[in-house]
Amino acid sequence: MIHPDIESIIISEEQVHERVRELGAEISRDYEGRQLLLVAVLRGAALFIADLSREITVPVELDFMAVSSYGSSTKSSGVVRILKDLDEQIEGRDVLVVEDILDTGLTLKYLLKNLASRRPASLEVITLLSKEGKQRVPISCKYVGFSVPDEFVVGYGLDFAERYRNLPYIGVLRPSAYQD
Ligand code: IMP
Ligand code: MG
Repeated sequence: MIHPDIESIIISEEQVHERVRELGAEISRDYEGRQLLLVAVLRGAALFIADLSREITVPVELDFMAVSSYGSSTKSSGVVRILKDLDEQIEGRDVLVVEDILDTGLTLKYLLKNLASRRPASLEVITLLSKEGKQRVPISCKYVGFSVPDEFVVGYGLDFAERYRNLPYIGVLRPSAYQD
């Protein structure tokens, strides 16, 4: 059953799970013999890190950061604030930042600069989704789940005004759902 506020499903539940399995296997190969600190950016990446971490076979630890860049608008403000910092020290560690979606790149640019200053041994990014052609600052993501068109998408962690995160698929929101 498709949610009434969803115009179309662009990535099905099965497609998400299949891709997450592939990414987990790829990360396990790339980081063989090492320990990985997965850093999820709350709240959007919460579902992704939960599933991804279970597909990784090297030892992983989880940590979380929260930043704000959007409020409840669908456009990037370019203003990034750390609402919750990491609990762990990352100096000398292999860090993989787990993001839900790369849009303008402004959030990640700020975050990566901030994390790099703490001198991790390595610092890479995995993003579930990337909006092609939207990046305003160059960000190199080691792993990208899917490229998506420049439309506002929700589900599998992604929200509009905190709603729809629990949809098991990724879909495009009907304009009527954010126009009232
Ligand atoms: P950026 O700074 O423009 O790259 O925005 C990144 C953040 O904006 C993501 O982590 C999301 O929280 C949010 N965002 C960007 N595009 C979408 C979308 O289509 N749906 C839901 N959230 C989005
Ligand atoms: Mg959001």
